[in-house]
Amino acid sequence: MLRRHTLLLSIPILFLLACGSERPAAVDTMTSMADSTTPYAEAHRPRYHYSPPAQWMNDPNGMVYHDGEYHLFYQHYPDSNVWGPMHWGHAVSEDLVHWENLPIALYPDSLGYIFSGSAVVDKGNTSGLGTDGQDPLVAIFTYHDAEAASAGRDDHQTQAIAYSNDNGRSWTKYAGNPVISNEKLIRDFRDPKVMWDAERDQWVMALAAQDRILFWRSDNLIDWELQSEFGTELGGHGGVWECPDLFPLTVAGGQETKWVLLISINPGGPNGGSATQYFVGDFDGKSFTPDPSFLPDVQNGKGVYIDYGRDNYAGVTFANIPEEDGRRIFIGWMSNWLYGQEVPTTVWRSAMTVPRALSLHRLPAGYRLFSTPVRELEKLRGTPSEIAAGSTTVASNTQGTQEVDISFLITSETDEPFGIRLENEAGEAYRVGYDPSTDEFFSDRSEAGEDQFSDVFAGTAARAPRVATSDTVRLHLLLDVASAELFTDDGATVITEIFFPSEPFQQVSVFSGTDTEVLGGEAYSLEGIWSTPQ
Ligand code: FRU
Repeated sequence: MLRRHTLLLSIPILFLLACGSERPAAVDTMTSMADSTTPYAEAHRPRYHYSPPAQWMNDPNGMVYHDGEYHLFYQHYPDSNVWGPMHWGHAVSEDLVHWENLPIALYPDSLGYIFSGSAVVDKGNTSGLGTDGQDPLVAIFTYHDAEAASAGRDDHQTQAIAYSNDNGRSWTKYAGNPVISNEKLIRDFRDPKVMWDAERDQWVMALAAQDRILFWRSDNLIDWELQSEFGTELGGHGGVWECPDLFPLTVAGGQETKWVLLISINPGGPNGGSATQYFVGDFDGKSFTPDPSFLPDVQNGKGVYIDYGRDNYAGVTFANIPEEDGRRIFIGWMSNWLYGQEVPTTVWRSAMTVPRALSLHRLPAGYRLFSTPVRELEKLRGTPSEIAAGSTTVASNTQGTQEVDISFLITSETDEPFGIRLENEAGEAYRVGYDPSTDEFFSDRSEAGEDQFSDVFAGTAARAPRVATSDTVRLHLLLDVASAELFTDDGATVITEIFFPSEPFQQVSVFSGTDTEVLGGEAYSLEGIWSTPQ
């Protein structure tokens, strides 16, 4: 039986224990009527990131590609703009860029709230839940029994399934739920991520269990057998483990395939609060074994993170991306449990990161997971404007959305930071860049606007270790009105952070020291994806 660490309970669970199943004060109920035709004119409303039409959102769930559509489900509380009884909200996209909001897919019921989980296309109808000879969509999620939790029972989280035979438009919960009960009384027992293991013809589930990941197998998505566990001694353990994801990736430039295990941790992230770490290794159908070369990076409490910014949590990847596409596509929740429920928006709360393609590289430092924005986002670009070598101004009069791709050359040893600065006429500023004195990238939002809502939001700059070693440093920045996503060195180190300037950042400029040359690059305005009045 797992040790009980009440201190490791994540923020939403603590919140729940504190409030029982009581609902926090609801905001204007009219806002929950908002749909995709709502003109998103509110301050801080992202222009090209997915945000829910109204009310609370956290983790992405059930991401699956099916019949020409990418499905995005998400943790959602439709009655308030803070966390509460969880539902699965739902949106679909044909291009990973524009999203159509659909009705709520899964509602809580007598077995509990609908916590995070995944969805698969059940090819060959292994579950027998498909009708008329079709392959159903099957969602695998955690039931959180709030009453049992308040009563102090430890078996309150169980795993369950639901299925759809109409492209995810309607869902039926399986009559035999739960499919995995919680006999070992593991208090944090959740977030099943299921994949088809083609090599061994089996379904594999990674499940978070407080301070470890449990791997299960099944032939039919209904009967599950526990296979192994991983992780008590490795990686970051400053918080509870949540939202795992296991998938194979071919190492760039070769034939070798390695397995990547993503694990979100809350708190204990490298820059405070929640973050997502990963392991690279092998999976034999039963157990995950980290690669020996990766061990030094994940021993003695150390961890390697997919994103070092403070606002990328609970991210996982899409199931069933067609083989001819071959990408591993990731989306994370662009917030942090430290302050996610207090950020200064009212109609809705929080957004997702842009979809990112993941790739695996073997560097002198070891295996590293790179992230880059999916190419589909390029369709939002306006006419490119050249950033000439040596220039300092990148763009002025932006509406707060901008893409900047710029390279710098370090000409001789220097301690002077360089990077990109955003400013507005209210005197607020945000800076991202590279600090050669520590060999780290940084993101400084300490003067970027509203921060009174939380004691820890502004903080000091987030820092991220550089893994590339070249003298040329590339900064690729996606700026939306309330977020910055920085992909450095072709995606080797990533920083995602949110901010709330009192007016959009209109000026984008470059800063650098005397020993750094601005090599130049490109900037683009980015079109919004919602019917927003400009
Ligand atoms: C992660 C998480 C999950 C849980 C969900 C509840 O942010 O705590 O572990 O399933 O949120 O909303």
